[in-house]
Amino acid sequence: MTETVSRPAGAQQVPLPLDVEAIRADFPILSRTVRDGRRLVYLDSGATSQKPRSVLDAERDFYENHNAAPHRGAHQLAEEATGLYEAARAKVAAFIGAPEREVVFTRNSTESINLVAYALSNAATAKEPEFRRYAVGQGDEIVVTEMEHHANLLPWQQLCERTGATLRWLGLTDDGRLDLSDLDTVVNERTKLVAVTQQSNILGTINPLGGIIARAHEVGALVLVDGAQSVPHQPVDVTTLGADFLVFSGHKMLGPTGVGVLWGRYEVLDALPPFLTGGSMIEVVRMEASTFMPPPQRFEAGVPMTAQVIGLGAAVEYLERLGMDKVLAHEEALTEYALAQLQAIPGVTVIGPPDTVARGGAISFTVEGIHPHDVGQVLDDLGVEVRVGHHCAWPVVRRYGVPATTRATFYVHTGYDDVDALVDAVREAQRFFGVAPAVTEGGAS
Ligand code: ALA
Repeated sequence: MTETVSRPAGAQQVPLPLDVEAIRADFPILSRTVRDGRRLVYLDSGATSQKPRSVLDAERDFYENHNAAPHRGAHQLAEEATGLYEAARAKVAAFIGAPEREVVFTRNSTESINLVAYALSNAATAKEPEFRRYAVGQGDEIVVTEMEHHANLLPWQQLCERTGATLRWLGLTDDGRLDLSDLDTVVNERTKLVAVTQQSNILGTINPLGGIIARAHEVGALVLVDGAQSVPHQPVDVTTLGADFLVFSGHKMLGPTGVGVLWGRYEVLDALPPFLTGGSMIEVVRMEASTFMPPPQRFEAGVPMTAQVIGLGAAVEYLERLGMDKVLAHEEALTEYALAQLQAIPGVTVIGPPDTVARGGAISFTVEGIHPHDVGQVLDDLGVEVRVGHHCAWPVVRRYGVPATTRATFYVHTGYDDVDALVDAVREAQRFFGVAPAVTEGGAS
């Protein structure tokens, strides 16, 4: 496709902590080809990750051998389904250092955040006094950041519209980090909750949560951490995190779609009214009124997504076998290599932190003279699958004055060959659209 290119001096291929070839063999989809026989270079794990065979097998085994509704029925299959479902809860809880009763299964991070937002507004009108403790109302403030994915912005906008509370936010610096210069005024005595991402899905920035959480707790506010882009990629332990809620999605961490997690400090969860009501979350039901189970069951109405929860348990086992420290170090090495190469291409601008300090494996960039959608089209033709657009975080691209970006995201099966394919494809896009930098004696100028 392209002529051989020399790699810039800063692009060092240090030994990767993970065995990429062995890992790729675990992912059936990675053996397929795309676009007339090209190797699949999957660089869109930030949108959704691929699934290893053990996750697919766990779901299949459940349907083939144990399928029944957990927490109902006294027959053998129901007992087995309940056992597998609760065993998966234990695995997920251990993965984040939490007690099992603090882990609520939802559909995804988005639903987890909506659950908290609706519980906080339902609290204001709860007939049970014990559910009113965290009620949000007029005069209260909710704080987010300009870095949030829509899932951690719109539920809070809507909560404010329902309750009369005010939404405030922390801004961004030019180099893609949170601007914390006005933290003490934005987070103040009126703040009821601070919602912040641990890792930006666009910028890759890993946020310094310690100071934000400390300030929020100083003024008596709750803290919700969006871990959708961090829990799959780095060790996260709720005991050291110090937040009140953590949300993440199964499908971004090698697990199935349709399952997510809300972790909450038990004392806080226990003081919240339900979001969804129905079967399985009740203590006593009468025609006049009903009472609810304690957490986590209070927040798991209806027959749950059992196979998906079990699949998530298998995904967690897979990640634990690799070791989350190694997953983080692997992505750091790839990110350093990719940044050095992309930043060396004239016309390419990385949107986000320019270095690897507190930065995860999500790299957004623009290519001068080519719309990101056109970049994505050329990359796709070459078998390189990235995401283009505003990445469901529109205020972020607006902040950096671009309509959209091209974004590559890395994961456990990503190797240097994938990064090279990306970089070569970007150069190819420049040639295709006639915006390739002129070549001088020393190389590209
Ligand atoms: N939140 C996902 C992403 O960043 C969909 O691509």
